[in-house]
Amino acid sequence: MKIAIGNDHAAPALKAAVKAHLEERGFEVVDVGCAEGERCDYPEKAAAVCEKVTSGECELGILICGTGLGMSYAANKVKGIRAACCSDYFSARLSREHNDANVLCFGARVVGEGTAIDLVDIFVDTPFSGDERHQRRIDMITALENR
Ligand code: RB5
Repeated sequence: MKIAIGNDHAAPALKAAVKAHLEERGFEVVDVGCAEGERCDYPEKAAAVCEKVTSGECELGILICGTGLGMSYAANKVKGIRAACCSDYFSARLSREHNDANVLCFGARVVGEGTAIDLVDIFVDTPFSGDERHQRRIDMITALENR
């Protein structure tokens, strides 16, 4: 699986740790994030990761800013993106099982490295349930997007 990752200036160290972990697990990681010492605007990084996902180049995306909130607001404006801002494992799992989320967001000022890595593992390892009632609701989200 190919995964896109992006971050702003609040999260280069956490991004590096998550990226190294994913690569160690054998995933190919496309890093469009902000490097240590740089500053950037999170909507630009959200757009770059979302483009990798909606184009099909990457299956999933990960976005890290200070809180995860700004990244999720921006990502959820992109057609075809369902971004979940999570700091607990239950939400990370259900975001995949029920909502078929394709982008995970979290905050470097909210979660530590261990929690971040567990959130990412849960997110990439949990499939969408495929349940008809969940798909119907996702289709309703898509309909809102197209309104
Ligand atoms: C940047 O200081 C901060 O606003 C950003 O990382 C993020 O937390 C926004 O939601």
